[in-house]
Amino acid sequence: MSKPIKPIRKAVFPVAGLGTRFLPATKAMPKEMLTVVDRPVIQHVVDEARDAGIEHFIFVTGRNKGVIEDHFDSQFELERTLMERGKKRELEMITRDLPGAGQTSFTRQQAPLGLGHAVWCAREIVGNEPFALLLPDMLHHSATACLTDMMKAYNETGGNLIAVSPVPNDQTHLYGIVGVENAKDKVTSIKSMVEKPPRGTAPSNLHITGRYILQPEIFDLLSRQEAGAGGEIQLTDAMITLMEEKKQTFSAVRFDGRIYDCGSKIGFLTANVAYALARDDLGPSLKSELKKLM
Ligand code: G1P
Repeated sequence: MSKPIKPIRKAVFPVAGLGTRFLPATKAMPKEMLTVVDRPVIQHVVDEARDAGIEHFIFVTGRNKGVIEDHFDSQFELERTLMERGKKRELEMITRDLPGAGQTSFTRQQAPLGLGHAVWCAREIVGNEPFALLLPDMLHHSATACLTDMMKAYNETGGNLIAVSPVPNDQTHLYGIVGVENAKDKVTSIKSMVEKPPRGTAPSNLHITGRYILQPEIFDLLSRQEAGAGGEIQLTDAMITLMEEKKQTFSAVRFDGRIYDCGSKIGFLTANVAYALARDDLGPSLKSELKKLM
């Protein structure tokens, strides 16, 4: 008899990165708090997780990231002032998206040793259950949220899942790349993985987009993982061991929307335009302003 599929209740958000690419904006403010339209980048990603049914939000932070914790807390004085002034809409907006009491956890990655190490820092809070992992720099814009699609696939397949999407062949060296059974399928088996393959050696053009569902056995492997590409402890390397040596299944879920890498200036600026254009209250006027600029 096959093992029952355990539900995914927790999501991990690695938010310890320094954001040097956005200096001086990120000198005193975490890069995850930069806004795409009127919501911080991290809020967009937490929204995606909540929409997919996540109940517990685990942030792996670092120095100077305290404001992220404040952002996901209620603001008593602000709420009272809004209430006294009858600003119902604003009050509703800031309270609606707030995780409930006890639904957030914060832990710190004390040194920038890589994504694999950041994820490992969450091991005690995640415990012995499968979890979602969302890389906040990567905004996934689509009609159905990426993690929602992945949850649906997970309920059928169980195991580990990674969201993927094609990139131009000359960009495969910038990402984790997977080789799959059938690239045309929405959900397909992963056969190989490699982190930042040297140019011309990638097994396909499907890149790891920054959304994962992982089994807790990854933590044990991460605790022994040696530095890989870029001298960092790589999550991809531990996933390879989980797949090849521990014989766990990995499925790729193709993401069909647009991805904006908000860790880069162009990605961040484009995300602002795209998210605003998609809104009824801003789209039409922004479009006419953009026309004047072009
Ligand atoms: C990380 C992952 C990589 C993935 C990428 C997506 O790399 O290691 O597999 O493709 O995120 O953004 P990083 O961007 O931290 O170098």
